[in-house]
Amino acid sequence: MENRFNTIAGWVLGSGMVALALSSLSYRYFEAGKTHAPEKPGYAIEGGEGEGGGGKDEVPFETLLASADAAKGEATFKKCMSCHTINAGGAAGIGPNLHAVMGRAIGSTGFAYSDALKGKGGKWDFASMNEWLHNPKKFAEGNKMSFAGLPDAAERANLIVYLNSQGSNLPLPAAPAAPAAGEEGAAPETAALVGDAAAGEKAFAKCKACHTIDAGGANGVGPNLAGIVGKGVAAGSFAYSDALKAKGGTWDDATLDAWLAKPSAFAAGTKMSYAGSSNPQERANLIAYMKTK
Ligand code: HEC
Ligand code: HEC
Repeated sequence: MENRFNTIAGWVLGSGMVALALSSLSYRYFEAGKTHAPEKPGYAIEGGEGEGGGGKDEVPFETLLASADAAKGEATFKKCMSCHTINAGGAAGIGPNLHAVMGRAIGSTGFAYSDALKGKGGKWDFASMNEWLHNPKKFAEGNKMSFAGLPDAAERANLIVYLNSQGSNLPLPAAPAAPAAGEEGAAPETAALVGDAAAGEKAFAKCKACHTIDAGGANGVGPNLAGIVGKGVAAGSFAYSDALKAKGGTWDDATLDAWLAKPSAFAAGTKMSYAGSSNPQERANLIAYMKTK
């Protein structure tokens, strides 16, 4: 089993590398101004693009998302696991860890990304992730993810809803009105919490006993929290506990959500004497507020 898995992973990797090599070759031809577009077989590998299974353009992607099935997406994610972990704090493999990737800036973890992907800019949202997983090569010419893409739009929708459930929980984009087969029941489960910064500011009253949040504010019992979202964990000038210092990583939606739910579980031995907020909406609000600071 293990062997077979490795073989398959090898094939995926191998064929991807061929595609990459051929495409950069043909790209070079193109750049050199040769007028004959070489009919390289490399394009055969991404075959399926266009003629994908089922799905088709009739159904808007937002509608597919609204009725997508995260469990099926999890099954599809097996195709990604040879290169990616998705658990919080999971190690990078051949590709970067994908925890909370939805909403994250493209190419922004500590991973050694290709210039192609780093140069993309923007965030992973439903549209960009859909494009990327459809055809990685086309999304960022010269990127190093050796994966041909998923031609089936419904499969991508399931996968993206699954990715979104792993630490991101972005709200799904609104589906265009009245899809023929009313699947209303499916959406609310995956529809996620949207943080309300104004409500978060109120909730932050609980934190003010120990924290300032304006830029240049002094440390109190806890560190100043200006710009905390996107900052390294325990990266300010404050006498942090070893527990928090040992955590590593960055404060993003997922890590902040876990931290604020139960600091002592997130970093056993932390010196933040705050029990945590058991209300996910309140945490989302707090995070939304911190993002404005
Ligand atoms: C053969 C290994 C491999 C497979 C299989 C693979 N990936 Fe990747 N993935 C990579 C590599 C390498 C990168 C970094 C690409 C770069 O820097 O150009 C990457 C990057 C990504 C990124 C960008 C992450 C970021 O931090 O910006 C996402 C999202 C992603 N992969 C999702 C997937 C999904 C979902 C699947 C399964 C459908 C998958 N990948 C399959 C190797 C792989
Ligand atoms: C009783 C004081 C206290 C309260 C109340 C408190 N904190 Fe803290 N906070 C701390 C201390 C102390 C630390 C440093 C923890 C460590 O080093 O283990 C900390 C650390 C943090 C960090 C990590 C900062 C960094 O630089 O990595 C964040 C984020 C944070 N608190 C957010 C909050 C929020 C949001 C609230 C309100 C919901 C809150 N805290 C309530 C004392 C407090």
